[in-house]
Amino acid sequence: MTDSQEESLYTRLGGYDAIAAVTDEFLERLMSDPTIGYYWAGDSKDTKRRDRQLIVDFLCEATGGPVFYTGRDMKTSHHGLGISEHDYDILMEHCVATLDKFEVPEMEKSEVCAFLNGLRADIVD
Ligand code: HEM
Repeated sequence: MTDSQEESLYTRLGGYDAIAAVTDEFLERLMSDPTIGYYWAGDSKDTKRRDRQLIVDFLCEATGGPVFYTGRDMKTSHHGLGISEHDYDILMEHCVATLDKFEVPEMEKSEVCAFLNGLRADIVD
């Protein structure tokens, strides 16, 4: 086993600050995309900040970081929003573009994309 395989994805991505920075860029892209941005259109700044923090926590915990996610599960928090497969495809495109912008290496990029794609069935209505 190589060193990089022994380290958690959290560590290989650069830890909390790196994951928080990637999340901010990712959310900025999603919320300003004309085809899916309306999902967050009515949110107050405070709601956006809270949801952003929950997403950072969720990703840090899922990648093996020392973080405890206190939000709701993906099925509960997205059920009824009407998110389509096409919406999710757009999210995945923004995911790749964001990771490319931060020059995340191919292996970590594919792990993050596989993880997010794995949530698809719970999030799409
Ligand atoms: C196109 C896909 C998605 C859309 C349109 C979307 C939209 C939303 C919206 C509108 C909320 C607020 C719901 C509410 O409080 O009533 C929310 C919450 C949330 N989303 Fe998503 N989401 C998507 C995909 C994802 C993905 C892939 C993740 C995983 C990183 C995620 C993580 C979360 C988390 C952690 C919350 C907060 C849960 C809570 O309030 O306890 N979402 N999402």
